[in-house]
Amino acid sequence: MKNINKEPDFKHIGNKLLSWYEKNARDLPFRQTKDPYKIWICEIVFQQTRISQGLGHYNNFVARFPDVKTLAEAEEDEVILYWKGLGYYSRAINIHKAAQQIMTDYHGKFPHEYEEILKLKGVGKYTAAAVSSICFNGKMPAVDGNFYRVLSRVFADGFDISNSRAFNYFSELAHLILPDQVGDFNQAMMDLGSEICKPKNPLCRECPLNEDCLAFSMKKVSEFPVKAKKMKAKDLELKYYFVHRNGQFLIQQRKDDFIWKKLFEFPPEISDALVPFVVGVKTVSHKLTHKNLSIEIYNVEVLSEEVWNHFIAENSYLTTDVESSHEKSFPKPLETYIRNYEEAYRFL
Ligand code: ADE
Repeated sequence: MKNINKEPDFKHIGNKLLSWYEKNARDLPFRQTKDPYKIWICEIVFQQTRISQGLGHYNNFVARFPDVKTLAEAEEDEVILYWKGLGYYSRAINIHKAAQQIMTDYHGKFPHEYEEILKLKGVGKYTAAAVSSICFNGKMPAVDGNFYRVLSRVFADGFDISNSRAFNYFSELAHLILPDQVGDFNQAMMDLGSEICKPKNPLCRECPLNEDCLAFSMKKVSEFPVKAKKMKAKDLELKYYFVHRNGQFLIQQRKDDFIWKKLFEFPPEISDALVPFVVGVKTVSHKLTHKNLSIEIYNVEVLSEEVWNHFIAENSYLTTDVESSHEKSFPKPLETYIRNYEEAYRFL
């Protein structure tokens, strides 16, 4: 019988990708294990952080918290401290809560099923698919930006990736090429997306899928993926006061959670009595995903012990110094400010 009325078969594409992966998989430390705890942590870390940038942090994190129980029993502040340098701290807070959830809801045993993994705090469809496929032979594609890019190019598909239905759309496309070994396939897509099918200057001549890639055959690779909406970052101005005396300075833990949840910060305001001690201001810019921050940091050197003591008594600020500030987590621009102060202070 001829293959009339049969859906086109794209499985060979997934299989080609697997063969390529067998020879070219990146040698990454978390690929030596199928421990779901470690794979989960690595997926959370490397979803928003480049491998080269996050590998040291990942290694330190799993060395200090080698399993679910150790993590669940740790203090939240320490978990956040180990996240220092990775940014997006809500990930650390969620990981900690999820570890406690695994202790109470799953008797400390990491759940195996996609639907169960998805119930963990901070775990989305991508992470649940990655962990269940890599560790438990689950069959869901771990659809992320790499999938959008590779699939939109292979099928020369102009579906708008900023559309809220993009995830479902590209999941269906992924199923068309999905082979049996989904764990390897998912990791192959990650490697192809970051090494070959890159957003800019993709290495199409080296790509294992170039013969199947419609965008490549039409010389239109740069036109995919299509993204209609550009989320414009909002401008936001912040003020901080670096209030210090004899090497000590004042901080508080953030309660507000619209940015920098639970990190430490300098006082955002001062009393009139401190105004005469302002000796300078520095403006720093800092970009967050959807915000462009412009931060004025006033240097307030309080020469009067009485004013210093009074300000501390009137407010609930903590006193710290450069040395102990290393044990607390600050937003990146404040951390940089403190380290510059540390350098300057060393020569006083
Ligand atoms: N980025 C996130 N998870 C990854 C993985 N398992 N392999 C390669 N890159 C990744």
